[in-house]
Amino acid sequence: MRHLLSTKDLSRDEAVAILDIAEDMADVANREVKKLPTLRGKTVVNLFFEDSTRTRVSFEVAAKRLSADVINFSAKGSSVSKGESLKDTAQTLAAMGADAVVIRHGASGAPRVLADSGWIDAGIVNAGDGTHEHPTQALLDAFTIRKRLHGSASRGRALDGVTVAIVGDILHSRVARSNLWLLSTLGASVQLVGPATLLPVSTEGWPATVTLDLDAAVDAGPDVVMMLRIQAERMTAAFFPNAREYSRQWGLDDERVARLPAASMVMHPGPMNRGLEISSGAADSERSTVLEQVANGVSIRMAVLYHLLSGTGEARA
Ligand code: CP
Repeated sequence: MRHLLSTKDLSRDEAVAILDIAEDMADVANREVKKLPTLRGKTVVNLFFEDSTRTRVSFEVAAKRLSADVINFSAKGSSVSKGESLKDTAQTLAAMGADAVVIRHGASGAPRVLADSGWIDAGIVNAGDGTHEHPTQALLDAFTIRKRLHGSASRGRALDGVTVAIVGDILHSRVARSNLWLLSTLGASVQLVGPATLLPVSTEGWPATVTLDLDAAVDAGPDVVMMLRIQAERMTAAFFPNAREYSRQWGLDDERVARLPAASMVMHPGPMNRGLEISSGAADSERSTVLEQVANGVSIRMAVLYHLLSGTGEARA
């Protein structure tokens, strides 16, 4: 594997292998072991054209814990504001030496353009592109589910038979798309839940069932309820006319959480709109994995950088 652009590109064996490498990385990610020398001499460029807290910081932490050098680039305050193109920006940073480029961009497909163009000779990792995909978020979500379900016996396992309801703004969610492909590759059953205005016009070919009824989805007792952020910045009033009505029909509130089986997990990729798609009670409940997801993000990003840059990725591809 030279690039990580979409979870659609991952086979089941490859996905399980990345989760297993993340298990191996966990002691370093959690700082029980200080650092590994594995990527000494390699340079990772974080190329962020959209805002991020978790993804950018955890890629930086992951690269540093593997002893790589890190260059952080944020479009804000850069020559992008003077009109510099993606090609010129990427080539400028690559000229300073880049073995991997971690890119977040508002345009769906920008990471694939960078990977296919030949403009730069570096492994490309998609850190979120428009409404398309966010593969490392899906990998850390799968890792979190596997760890909660199987604990120290997780290694080598997929997610066969696990039921996952993904709820909310499916239309604009790259997290939903990456999870949909990865979770189904790993054997989970996925249900998409949301208002008609926030569901794609067609989900033909998607490995998921679709419902507008959150209460029915909750009462089915899924293993996982994955709440999505309402992406107000990508929508107009036509999509989302009334916050109170949205919250009443599609928000995970304390009463709905109480109806879930005790072992059900409540997930959210963050950042959360507390009181809109998720109540504080749900976000902070014992079922919530929100902070575990953030912590596991470091292990997964270490695994992805290792897989791409250590040479083992090429050997497996
Ligand atoms: N989940 C996620 O991608 O969060 P950030 O936007 O903070 O990176």
